[in-house]
Amino acid sequence: MPAVLGADLEVPVKGGRLVGYANLDYAASAPCLEPVSAAVTAALPAYSSVHRGAGYASQLTTARYEQARHTVRAFAGARPDDAVIFTRNTTDATNLLAGCLPAGTTAVVFDTEHHASLLPWERVVRLAPPAFPGEAVRAADEALAALDGPKLLVVTAASNVTGELWPIAALAHIAHRHGARILVDAAQLVPHRRLNLTALDLDYVAFSGHKLYAPFGAGVLVGRRDWLAEGEPYLKGGGAVRSVAPAGSGATEWHEDPEPRHEAGTPNVLGAIALAAACDALTATGWTALVREEERLIARLRAGLASIEGVRELSLWGPDHPRVGIVSFTVDGLAAREVAEALSGEYGIGVRDGKFCAHPFVRHLLGGTADEGCEDGTASAVRASIGIGTTEEHVDRLVAALRDLTTRHATVSS
Ligand SMILES: Cc1ncc(COP(=O)(O)O)c(C=O)c1O
Repeated sequence: MPAVLGADLEVPVKGGRLVGYANLDYAASAPCLEPVSAAVTAALPAYSSVHRGAGYASQLTTARYEQARHTVRAFAGARPDDAVIFTRNTTDATNLLAGCLPAGTTAVVFDTEHHASLLPWERVVRLAPPAFPGEAVRAADEALAALDGPKLLVVTAASNVTGELWPIAALAHIAHRHGARILVDAAQLVPHRRLNLTALDLDYVAFSGHKLYAPFGAGVLVGRRDWLAEGEPYLKGGGAVRSVAPAGSGATEWHEDPEPRHEAGTPNVLGAIALAAACDALTATGWTALVREEERLIARLRAGLASIEGVRELSLWGPDHPRVGIVSFTVDGLAAREVAEALSGEYGIGVRDGKFCAHPFVRHLLGGTADEGCEDGTASAVRASIGIGTTEEHVDRLVAALRDLTTRHATVSS
């Protein structure tokens, strides 16, 4: 396994003691991989402008930036002619695509989506959380059949709330049967599982560097060129134009290639290099080893949680459905914020609490609890998420801490 930076980070806990940090918040933002940091450091001395400079450093940096595009294309298993557009993150990528949809396109989304995939669409049909995977396929089938005009099915590959994997190959098949396209939000898939856009027959995928151990501010949109070549340039400015006519004497001529068309201005070169380095590092480690280690640790964590009275794991499709290294839960009688703060302040454990930018989904999982605000600790859950660098000790510490907290709470309330 590649090393992560910060593996030896110590944090203060109650009483002033320092303890090793148990980072169990990878689904929000993963720590930087050592090879990612090394690639950025190596690129810095020759760092210069891309695409426009004649100087040697500019040429070298341009080559590194374009090589990063190739690496990300291969990592995503994209078709040779797919566009690979560097963005800021997944949210930026879904919004970019939303701005390029042919006029009158209707998006079909499930209410289980992260807001990044739920909200950018102008015309949208929202589907209720499906009771089982086959129901997702059936509901998408029915919704797409009822629509005229261009259509886009938007679906997450792995839930950021429950970690559950969605049947994206079957959904792609259904979308295409109705002449629709499919966008897959792969933000939580790519740090945990191999993505192969071509094999899955996906039209677009989006993901973020900072969830893929490359926290340097770049994400990506990968997919079919035609809509992107015709859509309004995402940013208007230098790099996106072929030529600008004098005032009053003609139209601005925009690039038709999606990459320059949507990447105006100076791009985030180091972010792209970092993202590509993370792709290389995961590929070199090998998915078999990555998945095996993650499944071992997440099984240990889930078994630990299940053994504590009052701790309830959230799940859409039941405990046996395949999932990545993410688990959300509630603790009877304790607000999620209270639990997360105690885990941090007393045990040096970092988790996330709230509705994880998936308000309709978390509300559904909590049984339609009245919405008392997003991140205020009420009507919300705690999420623990793991990845490269997570150890058995981190997992066991979380389970022991929750056992302590629930025992203390039971004693106080009795
Ligand atoms: C499934 C999913 N999609 C999209 C996003 C948005 O990612 P970003 O904040 O990098 O835009 C997240 C982030 O939590 C996510 O988990």
